[in-house]
Amino acid sequence: MAKRKRKQRPVPGVESSFPAVTAGLVSPSRRVPVEIARPPYALTGDPGPSVSPLTRTPDEIAAMRRTGQDAAEILLRAGEVVRPGITTDEIDRFVHEASIERGGYPSPLNYRGFPKSVCTSVNEVICHGIPDSRSLADGDIINIDVTLWKEGVHGDTSATFLVGDVDELSLRLVRETARALELGIGAVVAGGLVSDIGKAIESHAVRHRLGVVREFIGHGIGTEFHTNLQIPHYYDRRLSTRLEIGTSFTIEPMLTLGSPEAGLWDDDWTAATVDGTRSAQFEHTLLMGPDGAERLTVTASGECAHDLVAAAVA
Ligand code: MF3
Ligand code: CO
Ligand code: CO
Repeated sequence: MAKRKRKQRPVPGVESSFPAVTAGLVSPSRRVPVEIARPPYALTGDPGPSVSPLTRTPDEIAAMRRTGQDAAEILLRAGEVVRPGITTDEIDRFVHEASIERGGYPSPLNYRGFPKSVCTSVNEVICHGIPDSRSLADGDIINIDVTLWKEGVHGDTSATFLVGDVDELSLRLVRETARALELGIGAVVAGGLVSDIGKAIESHAVRHRLGVVREFIGHGIGTEFHTNLQIPHYYDRRLSTRLEIGTSFTIEPMLTLGSPEAGLWDDDWTAATVDGTRSAQFEHTLLMGPDGAERLTVTASGECAHDLVAAAVA
C-alpha cells in the first residue's frame, strides 16, 4: 500500500498479552526464470514516478481480470499451507513458485528493493513483513499479501489467516476487518467520492472499538503497482476525488485491537503497532463499473480466501 505520513493519537488502555514478533533470518532473494517477463522495476528496484492514468483501457481490464484471478488462486492456495511450525520463508517459496507456475512475476520482489516475493505480516505486524526463518506459532494470525504481475498488469490481494487455535479477541479483529473491507467495497458508486470508502470503514471500526491504520492506504493499480490515486481507510472530508468508471484500485483496511499508530522496524519495511496489539488486513483489487466495484481478485470459479476465513471466524 502507499505510504502516507500522518500523526495519530494513541487509543489508551489496550495492551498485548502476546510475546512480540521478532525478526528471523532472511534467505537470499529467489530467482525468476529468464522466460518469465518482468516489470520494469525488477532489475533496478526503482519503479520511478507514477505516470499511468487512473483508468484502464479495455485490453488492460481484460488482462487485470485474468491476473486478478491468478493472484486470488495463489492467495487461496497459500492460505492452505498456513499451519503451526511453517516458516514465513516457506510461504514465500510457495508464493514465488506458484507465481512462476502461472507465468507471472511476484510483484513485491525487488519493488523498491523489497527482498522477497510476498509480504507476511504476523500478529502486531501491520504490513510489509519480510518472510524469514520465524515459524508460525499456534494462536498467531498472519496476513499474506500476494501481488502478481502478468500480461503487463498487477493483481494485489491479501487475507489474514488463523494459525491453529486463535483467541477470541483476535477472531473478532479478523472478522470485523474482513467486514470492513466488504463495507468499503459496498460504499463505492460510479462517479462517487473516494472518501465514502474511508467513511464506511472508519465508522465500522469505531463501532467495534478497533483502530484504523492511517499511515498505509489503498491505491490505484494497473500497469503500475501503485498509481497516484490514494484510498484512505479513514474519513477525510477534504478528499474530493471521485471514482470514474474504469478506475482500478485497491481497498485494504488494516484494523488494530489497540492504537493504530505504526512504527518501522530497523529493516525499514516491517510496520508494526507501537503498542504491540494485533493488526489484521484484507485486500482486494477492484474495478469501478457502472453498477459498483467489481472484485478482480477472485478465482475463475468465484472463490476467495476471504470467504474461507470469514466462515472460520463467524
Ligand atoms: N502489496 C502491498 C500493497 O498492498 C505492497 C507491498 S510493496 C512491497 O500495496 F514492496 F512490500 F512488496
Ligand atoms: Co495494495
Ligand atoms: Co497488497
